[in-house]
Amino acid sequence: MTACRVCAGPLRELADFGRQPLAQAFVRPEDLATEFFYRLVVGRCADCALVQLMHEIPPDKMVHEGYPYHPTNSTVMHKHFQDTAARWLETTLTGPDPFVVEIGCNDGVVLHTLGEAGVRHLAVDPSGITGVQVHEAFFNAVSAAEIRAEHGPADIVYAANTVCAQPDVASIFAGLEVLLAPHGLFVFEDPYLGEVLARTGFDQIYDEHFYYFTAQSVQAMANRFGMRLVDVERIPVHGGQIRYSVARRDSRLPAPAVDELLAGEESAGFADDTTFARFVSKVDATRDALLNLLTDLRGKGHSIVGYGATAKSATTANYFGIGPDLVPFVCDSTPSKQGTLTPGMHIPVRPPAEFADPYPDYALLFAWNHADEIMAKEKAFRDAGGKWILYVPEVRIV
Ligand code: TYD
Ligand code: ZN
Repeated sequence: MTACRVCAGPLRELADFGRQPLAQAFVRPEDLATEFFYRLVVGRCADCALVQLMHEIPPDKMVHEGYPYHPTNSTVMHKHFQDTAARWLETTLTGPDPFVVEIGCNDGVVLHTLGEAGVRHLAVDPSGITGVQVHEAFFNAVSAAEIRAEHGPADIVYAANTVCAQPDVASIFAGLEVLLAPHGLFVFEDPYLGEVLARTGFDQIYDEHFYYFTAQSVQAMANRFGMRLVDVERIPVHGGQIRYSVARRDSRLPAPAVDELLAGEESAGFADDTTFARFVSKVDATRDALLNLLTDLRGKGHSIVGYGATAKSATTANYFGIGPDLVPFVCDSTPSKQGTLTPGMHIPVRPPAEFADPYPDYALLFAWNHADEIMAKEKAFRDAGGKWILYVPEVRIV
């Protein structure tokens, strides 16, 4: 794939993270022989500035059917979604009998919270989910027409960590064209390229994050599909995201925050090749520092355990070359990951109970986006003399 997936403009290569497994393809030992690898290369469209992967993963290789949601087991994320719903109830949803649709509904917290307040709602997700009403389909013009016929137009169509994962955004916008009420909003939140660059958050880059949005590229994308970017908001989850609000072209005026963010992106040089080149050398400096630290600690006889078998640790482990020789196992609260090996580097995943049995000297926090929550939960580890190792934005021991 050498053309932009949105506008067909030419893609220029920015970074090559080499041979990678699918970030959520936790493997059972007996399936190691059939593990799938691809080359993780990031490019930018010369025409619309959209940063994206240069290669699409064949759909039959994707581990997840549909929208790649996996529970974060995080009370912070739970509250984030509850707060989102609560705020809409006071702002966007004050009209008569509003209707909200969520594409790929995460764990359903937003819709569930809206439902408790009596708001009509529907999830659109091919894999289905219990607890909220689901239209089992991909979101596109066909499913949108079915939903509209049954429920009427939507006041909000919401998507969290879903749009960036769908190379075929054109079909999402085709669905919006059908389903969105005249003054409706398409609200979506995804990792922010600006945050990836500013915080050397290289581990956001993996197969399920196909697009790395900025206000500039989202504005171009919205325009292309006859809509308009009308608001942006920074949200402090998953290491820094932006929530974008997109509306039908002439239905709303953009909030001042849009121009402010665009100006900030311009002065930070997000669309300059030199900015990305600096980012890549910082990633390589992080790699050298982390490998030196882990090798040194192991050489001195210290024990190290990984914490959080995240998708984002796939790029870290595979690009840096961190395997069981440096980190003998990683603990994670997700039952379906326990007993498997991490993709590519094959570090065994074990239940959190093994973390304290006995505590290691050091814990490499792969789930650094939940640092506060995990460090609070594992307070006894530090009380026992244990230390955390973090590596975004840079390597440090706390
Ligand atoms: P997540 O935040 O979804 O990151 P990614 O998108 O990179 O996978 O994943 C968090 C992982 O960490 C998930 O596998 C569950 C695990 N986890 C714990 O083991 N303990 C915890 O206290 C928390 C919050 C998460
Ligand atoms: Zn483009």
